[in-house]
Amino acid sequence: MSSQALNQSLPLTESAPDLNAFWMPFTANRSFKDKPRMIDSADGFYYTSSDERKILDSLSGLWTSGAGHCHPKIVEAVQKQVAKLDYAVSFQVGHPGAFELAEKVTNMAPEGFDHCFFTNSGSESVETALKIALGFHHAKGNTSRTRLVGREKGYHGVNFGGISVGGLPANRKMFSGSLLPNTHHIPHTHNLEHNAFSKGQPQWGAHLADELERIVTLEDASNIAAVIVEPVAGSAGVLVPPVNYLRKLREICDRHGILLIFDEVITAFGRVGSAFASQRFDVIPDIITTAKGLTNGVIPMGAVLVRKEIHEAFMQGPEFAAEIFHGYTYSGHPVAAAAGIATLDVYQEEGLFERARENEKTFEDALHSFNGVENVIDIRNFGLMGAIELAPREGAPGVRGFAIHTKCFEEGLLVRNGMDTLVFSPFLAFTEELFEKTFDIFKSVLKKIN
Ligand SMILES: Cc1ncc(COP(=O)(O)O)c(C=O)c1O
Repeated sequence: MSSQALNQSLPLTESAPDLNAFWMPFTANRSFKDKPRMIDSADGFYYTSSDERKILDSLSGLWTSGAGHCHPKIVEAVQKQVAKLDYAVSFQVGHPGAFELAEKVTNMAPEGFDHCFFTNSGSESVETALKIALGFHHAKGNTSRTRLVGREKGYHGVNFGGISVGGLPANRKMFSGSLLPNTHHIPHTHNLEHNAFSKGQPQWGAHLADELERIVTLEDASNIAAVIVEPVAGSAGVLVPPVNYLRKLREICDRHGILLIFDEVITAFGRVGSAFASQRFDVIPDIITTAKGLTNGVIPMGAVLVRKEIHEAFMQGPEFAAEIFHGYTYSGHPVAAAAGIATLDVYQEEGLFERARENEKTFEDALHSFNGVENVIDIRNFGLMGAIELAPREGAPGVRGFAIHTKCFEEGLLVRNGMDTLVFSPFLAFTEELFEKTFDIFKSVLKKIN
């Protein structure tokens, strides 16, 4: 259908906007526009749909809003800031909010992470981290260290660096000929034969980290800049690192002078019951990427945290010159910074990381109660990240998962499906009652959708 025809079939009214112009991301646009699922407002743990139904949000936004939607303290901070300083350039000029937020974030980070670079999204954080890794080796005179290593099933956003080190075939396929050269991938750790229905970290799979040694042997450490992994992979459907896997990666990187980047865009800020997953796993990388929970999803913002030695490597050369030719018009945006400061205060004042930790068991029990239910082939969880994987319908992968997502929305629950895996990311301070409600609705939908 031409856009003109679509426009005609969806008349513009005040209450129902024309849906034609917005090309929605990661969305089946034609099917959505045929049968829209529209959200009008949000409050706490619920959305309200445009047909005025309460929709319980089992995903905390898109892993973004752990402190709850429209948190009054964050809303107020944003309102005040936008009326005071709506924008300020961060190139050669500064404003206090960005510095205050940087200090707060680095204070929460593992020891030694004394600096952070602001971005506007997870994807930008990843590009920034990869460039910092390359720039670090360049500054140290190791100019041959240019190769980047990612992992199969990894998701690092949608920009060219991120999809090059990323390992989700669908995200790479259309751009395959134009990805960054000199990237490599270690294997993923998703293995139903060994790890199905593991609670928390699976016992099997640490040896898969040794595949990094194989790449080092083949390409030589002197050519490898960095390895990037999500400590817990989110977008691939919650893949939890096997016991000792991350530690092994750290050891191999140390042995060969390779930087280790943890992409904590999902895992930072309480999702796994601590400020950073690095702290929870007690494995400290060299660079950490964040976004999402930094501002509770209220204003887009990301931050890349680096160890002191990395920052120092850049602080060379003439003092009048910029040390890195990289940055965004909106790096350290005052309204985003205000949202970030208020968010980090809320996490602390409400003890939300501790609340998340207390909620883990209830969440785990609720998820694993689906063990044995028809079509359920795996259940995985860590912290407040969980997934229920269903067998695909014959010849129609993803259709069952999508049908469950749409039916859940009809029945008052927002659940995300990645193909046939249903992904849950509850609010940090979810209550027993709401866990029960989430999984009651989910159970009744599972019964209806085959
Ligand atoms: C681990 C990871 N990295 C990067 C990104 C990209 O973030 P954004 O969508 O904000 O660009 C995501 C998004 O889900 C993510 O999960």
